[in-house]
Amino acid sequence: MNNEQTIGGYEAGLFQTHRPDTWWLEPLLTGLGFLSFVIYTTWAMFQGDYYWWSAGSEGFGGYLSPFYSPLLFIEESAAGSAPLLHAWFGPWPEWMPNLIPVTPAILILAGPLSFRLTCYYYRKFYYRSYFLSPPACAVAGVHQKDYKGETALLVIQNIHRFTLYIAIGFVAVLSYDAFLSFFRDGKFGVGVGSIILFLNPIFLAGYTFGCHAFRHLSGGRHDCFTCPQGKEKVSFKIWQGVSWLNGRHMFWAWISMIWVALGDIYVRLVAKGYWTDFSTWGN
Ligand code: FES
Repeated sequence: MNNEQTIGGYEAGLFQTHRPDTWWLEPLLTGLGFLSFVIYTTWAMFQGDYYWWSAGSEGFGGYLSPFYSPLLFIEESAAGSAPLLHAWFGPWPEWMPNLIPVTPAILILAGPLSFRLTCYYYRKFYYRSYFLSPPACAVAGVHQKDYKGETALLVIQNIHRFTLYIAIGFVAVLSYDAFLSFFRDGKFGVGVGSIILFLNPIFLAGYTFGCHAFRHLSGGRHDCFTCPQGKEKVSFKIWQGVSWLNGRHMFWAWISMIWVALGDIYVRLVAKGYWTDFSTWGN
């Protein structure tokens, strides 16, 4: 082990530090937490079944797993699949290459995933937890000899400002799904599933609208924030709201990620008959 001092007073050598606290706990927990999410999401995506439920009826309403929304194409023969009227473009097309597994989730997950993986908060934790670069503040990490910041391969992270628009679209679509979840065969009611699917777009909105790119959209390009007038006053107010969310970005990132998985787990358990959805409709 090399304990030679480097410029700045840090110890040289992986994980060397003067910090006396449990600095390793946060990168360890966040790394494991996100890995669990990725494993579950990948599994759920490849299932292609039990992603929709409405007590066996096919009328207006029902619960749709957030991992499968929007439903672009539907393979109707799959167990627990949504009725065809929920598909934006109809049945699973014959022209779809055989290489692509028959599961609606596979067509859409790249959208939200591209937003999350390029998020500033996610970058921070996966650079720390997975790349150890560095594992924490003032802790020596993997030495990157030719590190070029985000001007080389990682320049791809700059698509974040564009994926924001995709994420906003998902908030809108999932809000509509939340609305549908309060109906069964056109009849209004409330189930535990309705509440879970209702909270889902709220948490996602908290995460999406607290995005640094959205903060720039709402408050950038202004020379003076202390003298807002006219439409600048409106954007100043929006910027203040976005900044409040932005200051809690880590919270929204985690709660929205956990909740979206919970939405899928809940719909899947109810659709498989493993769990009863208590509701005002009766069961
Ligand atoms: S910075 Fe996290 S969502 Fe944009």
